[in-house]
Amino acid sequence: MDAFQIAGGRPLAGEVDVAGAKNAALPIMAAAILADGPVRVGSVPDLIDVRTLLDLLSGLGVWARRNETGAVCLDNVDPSRVVADASLVQQMRASFCVLGPLLARRGRAVVPLPGGCQIGDRPIDLHLRGLTALGAEIAVLGGHVIATAKRLTGATVMMSGPRGSTVTGTMNVLSAATLAHGETLIAGAATEPEVVDLGKFLNTLGARIEGLGTSLIRVQGVEHLGGGEHTIIPDRIEAATLLIAAAITGGSATVRGARADHMSAVLAALAEMGVTIQVRGDSVTAIGAIRPRSIGLVADPYPHLPTDVQSQFTALASVALGRSRIEDHVFPDRFAHVAELNRMNARIRRSRNGAIVEGVGELCGGIVTASDLRASAALVLAGLTASGSTTVRHVHHLDRGYERLEAKLTQLGARITRVKDSSASEVHDSSFATA
Ligand code: EPZ
Repeated sequence: MDAFQIAGGRPLAGEVDVAGAKNAALPIMAAAILADGPVRVGSVPDLIDVRTLLDLLSGLGVWARRNETGAVCLDNVDPSRVVADASLVQQMRASFCVLGPLLARRGRAVVPLPGGCQIGDRPIDLHLRGLTALGAEIAVLGGHVIATAKRLTGATVMMSGPRGSTVTGTMNVLSAATLAHGETLIAGAATEPEVVDLGKFLNTLGARIEGLGTSLIRVQGVEHLGGGEHTIIPDRIEAATLLIAAAITGGSATVRGARADHMSAVLAALAEMGVTIQVRGDSVTAIGAIRPRSIGLVADPYPHLPTDVQSQFTALASVALGRSRIEDHVFPDRFAHVAELNRMNARIRRSRNGAIVEGVGELCGGIVTASDLRASAALVLAGLTASGSTTVRHVHHLDRGYERLEAKLTQLGARITRVKDSSASEVHDSSFATA
């Protein structure tokens, strides 16, 4: 396994390009199963999760490859394949997005229950309830979801639960509804930009979807979907992470190719913490203050602050002036980063459904271990500002969702290198000794 070695304390400065959105690319690639013609998807980031999904689709009879421009080309060559590879689905929850397309286009799907992860319980009841409402017969046997449907029939479905709307649940039902007979109303639909991007992709293939971006999506089923081309929206979570890297180091960063309109809550929170935000077309610049101000943050479904930036903001709050309160209403247990940040001299304690952060003047470098994708990002951000050297172990979690993060941070002036984990502690000790 790899680790990052980070020499902290240097303010970032510079410009960097944002990649395509992981959480749009994955469901859109899965939805290619619905197409009767070739599909070409541009701006697909080069991530472990993307490679895992390409392997999964290949096992489902979808021919897939990246062309010379980096676009991903997909074509259904063997629609008889309906059993998703368990070892791959277990690696990545987003694989579950093949369920709706398989069911709608091939009439049958056998998909393993998605793995849980560090961020808390990940039920699928809303997915199954929505697809059942469309006429699917679904059984859960031996850790697999077995779903069949001669032809789905449009219905009114509800895609929100006690913690708000389900993003991939909405995606599964939206994909399936495009080929259902009649009209489907998706109430309580997730409004995230990634859901909108999937819907736009499906409309490019010939689907008839209205209401994208609202909590009521209307789908008129069609007989078939053709091929088509689509370019993925920029990754608002990666962009936010890079802007917070500037803020936490008291430096500046311009993220090119970002969609500020997808990041309103993030930019507002940064401004409230004293970060200067400048938006020029598709570039967003963050200029950090000497020390950020404390804040009260609540992660909620879009358009509120995304749960996927909660850990990064917790890291920023750990060096703010004063006490911050962080809550996550989407994943209340998504605080694995707290223990590791406290090993770096942060002063964070868990509260009933969040964390209380007493800002400190300086974090101290150390050896910390990543646990999930966004918690890993928080540890890297902490290392950028900490005094001395920080080793972030198990960075394969990061590689799942960030394309060449260390290269992008280096481009912004960070001193960060990737090392083999086995050597990490020796290298850390020696560099620590000289820090
Ligand atoms: C998507 O996960 C994202 N992943 C997550 O990003 C993101 O954190 C999450 O949405 C929330 O925005 C992808 O898009 C691949 P949910 P998803 O279903 O769809 C509950 C990252 O870091 N729920 O929207 O799995 C659930 O427990 C990843 O990039 C049910 O109760 O999340 C949670 O509390 C992590 N029943 C809430 O809804 C269900 O059937 C939102 O979950 C499904 C979900």
